[in-house]
Amino acid sequence: MHPNVLAQWFAICRSVDLKRSPRAAQLFGRPLVLFRTEEGVHALLDRCPHRHVALSDGRMLGNRLQCRYHGWEFEGSGACAQVPGSVAEPPRCAVPAFGCREQDGIVWVTPEGGAETGPPSLAFEGIEGMKQIWSDFTVEGTLFDAIENFLDPMHTHTVHAGLIRSEKKRSPVRIQIACEEDAVSATYLGEGASSGAIQQLFGLDIVRSLGRFRLPSIVEMEYWNERFLRCRIVLLFTPTEEAEIRVTAGIYGRHALAPLILPILKPMLRLAMRQDREVLSWKYAHESKYFGKANYVHTELDLLGPHILHWFRHGKIAGEDREIEVLL
Ligand code: FES
Ligand SMILES: [Fe+2]
Repeated sequence: MHPNVLAQWFAICRSVDLKRSPRAAQLFGRPLVLFRTEEGVHALLDRCPHRHVALSDGRMLGNRLQCRYHGWEFEGSGACAQVPGSVAEPPRCAVPAFGCREQDGIVWVTPEGGAETGPPSLAFEGIEGMKQIWSDFTVEGTLFDAIENFLDPMHTHTVHAGLIRSEKKRSPVRIQIACEEDAVSATYLGEGASSGAIQQLFGLDIVRSLGRFRLPSIVEMEYWNERFLRCRIVLLFTPTEEAEIRVTAGIYGRHALAPLILPILKPMLRLAMRQDREVLSWKYAHESKYFGKANYVHTELDLLGPHILHWFRHGKIAGEDREIEVLL
């Protein structure tokens, strides 16, 4: 992973899921403990310097995190503030701390602690009046695998046959690829409702859709009708352990019939998710067992994948704006 990637902010959990007790998390294979004080949220290495017990098993004593073994107390900065039973000064030791902030209802952490900018903003135009549903789940594979999968339309005819698109009903669609410094996006024009059951049932008025990758590991998908943004999906990808990616997903919707639609739509989305998880874990198992570092063949149909791979390997988005026609 390029150092530019490690200097960014990653979503660890939703704010509502970090309550008064400390919480364990992982980021790039490192164990973290998250906790709240009056000053805000904090992320430390999940290891008591005394005997390496997990601090996430401890408890909060006011604004201090207390280790459950011998009761050492730590401040949000990681500094040791108190050793119970000792009349001497506490030892000059500190638990390594990571940059940690709360923004847009998400707790963000930066693994290398050096990001000068804050976490990426999740604000967007038109959010007023949209209903939000949040959930999280894990997928197996690399960060690249997981992200590309969500933005890749070309597997939908096979992996999600009939559900998202159908092989027998392909039609020409124009796609505009736009490369920015911190994002790369594909805008789909003239697809109408795609050929799968989901859009045939719920998205007949969609005239334009968009899939965007944004630094460091965010996917945004938008579905527009003639007048307004009908639905927007935000996916925040966080590498936890080797080949495990945690995804925090937000769906913002605007549909008068939402209460009727959701009970039917949810199982369909869950099925699509299961299909993707299966293909990703099967892909990762085979590749990591036999082939190691990826050396892929790309075609123009791999719309955003090569740009995303470039970011993770070289620390920047590269490429040119272009427009292509594909059969979707
Ligand atoms: S191991 Fe944490 S106080 Fe002893
Ligand atoms: Fe998929």
